[in-house]
Amino acid sequence: MLAATGHAVPKRAFTNADFASIGVETSDEWIRERTGIGQRYVAGDGENLTTICTEAARIALQRAGVTAAELDAIILGTASPDRLLPATAVEVQAALGATRAVAFDIDAACSGWLYGIQVAEGLMATGGYETILVIGGEVLSRIINWKDRNTCVLFGDGAGATVVKRSTKGRGVLSAYMRSDGTLADLLQRPKGAGSHPMDAQVLAEGSHFITMAGREVFKNAVRSMADAADRALDGAKLSASDIDLLIPHQANIRIIEATAKHAGIPMEKVYVNVDRFGNTSAASIPIALSEAQEQGLIKDGMHVMFVAFGAGFTWGSMVVRF
Ligand code: ACO
Repeated sequence: MLAATGHAVPKRAFTNADFASIGVETSDEWIRERTGIGQRYVAGDGENLTTICTEAARIALQRAGVTAAELDAIILGTASPDRLLPATAVEVQAALGATRAVAFDIDAACSGWLYGIQVAEGLMATGGYETILVIGGEVLSRIINWKDRNTCVLFGDGAGATVVKRSTKGRGVLSAYMRSDGTLADLLQRPKGAGSHPMDAQVLAEGSHFITMAGREVFKNAVRSMADAADRALDGAKLSASDIDLLIPHQANIRIIEATAKHAGIPMEKVYVNVDRFGNTSAASIPIALSEAQEQGLIKDGMHVMFVAFGAGFTWGSMVVRF
């Protein structure tokens, strides 16, 4: 059961117009037309993944009426950890004072929160865990190449945190689906700067430690895989599209979101969209959207919400939850 969600973003909003100030040749029109993005948040001095995730976590805990000391586990989906070792989840654990919680990261890129919820459900089913914090958080601004207009306009920073409790009868996860395809790993990656090619002067000079992406290929795969995932979520829950009260898809690009909704047969009035204000925050995008939707009172008890994610790996998946 998703008991409560909170979200946090860095202080600074960076608009499409701001790219001119850093010498990136692009335009508000180009970015909006192709992606639907108008601005994104960018971490500044004193802000990092730990601080943003901790802020989101505190809001979620407060909304759930749970103390940090009650947490049995903290699972953080991220592709932009503060350090390569150890996991950022343990830093969040320390910041929260969640002394009992086992803490670890999941690197499933944009699917990280969705994978995390499914891992949490598994731990509850088999491991005696009662209360788990699942966070999707990213500081992508530190791993994108701000000179590469193909990628730097797309991404943003932020975190969403969800307190997960054991499902009660009739409420909770009705269906869950996860997939991966590593044969397509090269299409969206950070090519160098880690184990297979450690950081050196050449990597730094060519910027191959930053995210690279074959945009059109990623687009096609995202549309195909998210459509399939939406079908699986409905089948698994034995529901039809008209039973879904709200679709919360990964917020990568408005065109991908519209294609997913159209395939699933869900009208756009029932789709939560905030990519215009946050950009693509990868693992954080779904929980930020969920947190906003709940703040706006869009999700009432008994409603069916469908989540669909897709990201680097490729990884993708879906879930239907009855609130
Ligand atoms: N501003 C202006 N022009 C640009 C920019 C920019 N920011 N970026 C690229 N261009 C130019 C290109 O250089 C190219 O110019 P050329 O024809 O002279 O070579 C032209 O625009 C067209 O580029 P395309 O890549 O063909 O543009 P496309 O219509 O495919 O849109 C986009 C690019 C937006 C990246 C699209 O492919 C896309 O949305 N892909 C999905 C990527 C995505 O969302 N990834 C997120 C991670 S995965 C996930 O979260 C699902």
